[in-house]
Formats: sequence, structure tokens, C-alpha cells
Amino acid sequence: MRTTVSFFQKQKDNQIPITMVTAYDATLGRLAEQAGVQTLLVGDSLGMVVQGHENTIPVTLDAMIYHTQMVVRGTRKAFVIADMPFMTYNISSDQALANAGRLIQETGCQAVKLEGGERIAATLERLVENGIPVLAHIGLTPQSVHRYGGWRVQGKTPAEVQQLLADALAVQAAGAFAVVLELIPAELAAYLTQQLTIPSIGIGAGAGCSGQVQVMHDILGLLEDFTPRHARRYASLAQQAVSAISTYRHEVETGVFPAEQHSTPASEDLAQYLYGQQAKP
Ligand code: KIV
Repeated sequence: MRTTVSFFQKQKDNQIPITMVTAYDATLGRLAEQAGVQTLLVGDSLGMVVQGHENTIPVTLDAMIYHTQMVVRGTRKAFVIADMPFMTYNISSDQALANAGRLIQETGCQAVKLEGGERIAATLERLVENGIPVLAHIGLTPQSVHRYGGWRVQGKTPAEVQQLLADALAVQAAGAFAVVLELIPAELAAYLTQQLTIPSIGIGAGAGCSGQVQVMHDILGLLEDFTPRHARRYASLAQQAVSAISTYRHEVETGVFPAEQHSTPASEDLAQYLYGQQAKP
């Protein structure tokens, strides 16, 4: 039985922090689930950490469907949320509903995530009315990277604070079950969390949120040369992977691998036959 959407509110009401991590395929989903994580985000961050793009803008709906299917297939208990990519919900609420419907129906995920506050509240409401749980995302919204001119902390002026409060309240009123607060000052995230009845999930927003989300590749140290300020590396898997692959290469080059136990010996009859073939002139 999978975790359901009510988990989020229960955790907030019981003041138990929510742990969320991104996953992009069956293996990562399974590992997160084995570690006891109950909520997984198939983030469009996959555009950067899996597909090698500079930002999330090139990610398509088909790519999100493909990766979300894998995560759902690899897990049994987790609540799986899929990101709606750039321009798949911005044109009209009809477009958003059709695309969110595809994500839910074709992947088996339980919710979608949309970037934006007041601006997308009516669209968000339409999805919720049609039975689709929505996680909202405000603060630094990576699909607007070109408007910001980079990955910049948001909510640094009183006007931005007022806008973020209006955004948070608008997505709550529209029916979001929780809201991601990305890259805003810790005190502001704590303030917004107090103003909301729904849980907040922070990333680079301090400890005053109802939960935290991190990109899997950041916490596992899978990207050798990059750890954002808001992440902590709990492992250095890139280093370990390079060292393992280099040992493999060395063993192939020096004939150490494969050893006898890495292949199947021929039956006696087949061995005799092959021996006969080799003996032929
Ligand atoms: O795409 C993503 O992984 C995200 C999280 C970082 C919140 O949006």
C-alpha cells in the first residue's frame, strides 16, 4: 500500500519533519524507499543531473512520463510526485489538465508539482477539482531561470516578501496539499510556514519548514565537481564509481578479469567438439 496524500498534513499536524528526495529511475526509487523515505519527487532537475542540460527548460512531458514510470515501477510504498515541465501548464488550464492527466494516468504517480504562486493558482485549482493532488513550488522557481538571470536567492526585499506571502496563501487557497519553498532566507521560510496550514517543503530555505527536499545526486555526491550550498553530501559516490571503473579497466587490460568463475564452462561433449575443430588444419 502506498503512502497517501494525507501523510503530508498528518506530519505537519504532528510536527514530524517530512523527508523528500528526488528519484529518476527504478533503482534510485527503490534505494530511497529502502532507506525509509516515504515521498519521492521525480523532479525536472533530471534535465540537469541525468540529461546533462544547463537548466530544466529542455525537459519534455514525454521525458517526465518515461522517468516517472520507472520510479513508480521500482517502488511499492512511496508517494510519487512528478514535475510538470516548462510550458506544459502555462498556456491554459485546459492544457495543464490534459498534461497532468497524462502524467497521472500513464505513470501511476499520485501527484504533480507546478512552479508558481498567484499566477498559476487558477490552474492549480482546476487540477485539484479534477482529482489531481498538486504540490506547489514558489521562491526560486528554476523554470524561470532566464527571468532571474541565474540561480538567485528570492525574497530579499519587503516587496518580494509580500509577493511570496501572497503566492503561498494563493496556492493554499487553490488546494495545494503542500508547497516547496526554494532558496529563500531561512527566517522568511519559517514565517511563511507559520502563516500556512498546509506543510512547506524547503530546499535551501532553512530548518523552519515542515519538511526538506533534496536532489538525490547532491546528497549522494554523484556530481564530482558540484555541491550546491543548500545541500550536504552524505556519500562520495562519484569518487567511488571512478575508482571502481578504473580498477575494472585495469583488470581487463592486464587479463585479471574475467576469471574462470565469470563464465560458463562448455560441457565435455562440446569441449571435445571444439578441440576437434581447433585441431583441423
Ligand atoms: O526539479 C526538482 O528536483 C525540484 C526540487 C529541487 C524541488 O524542483
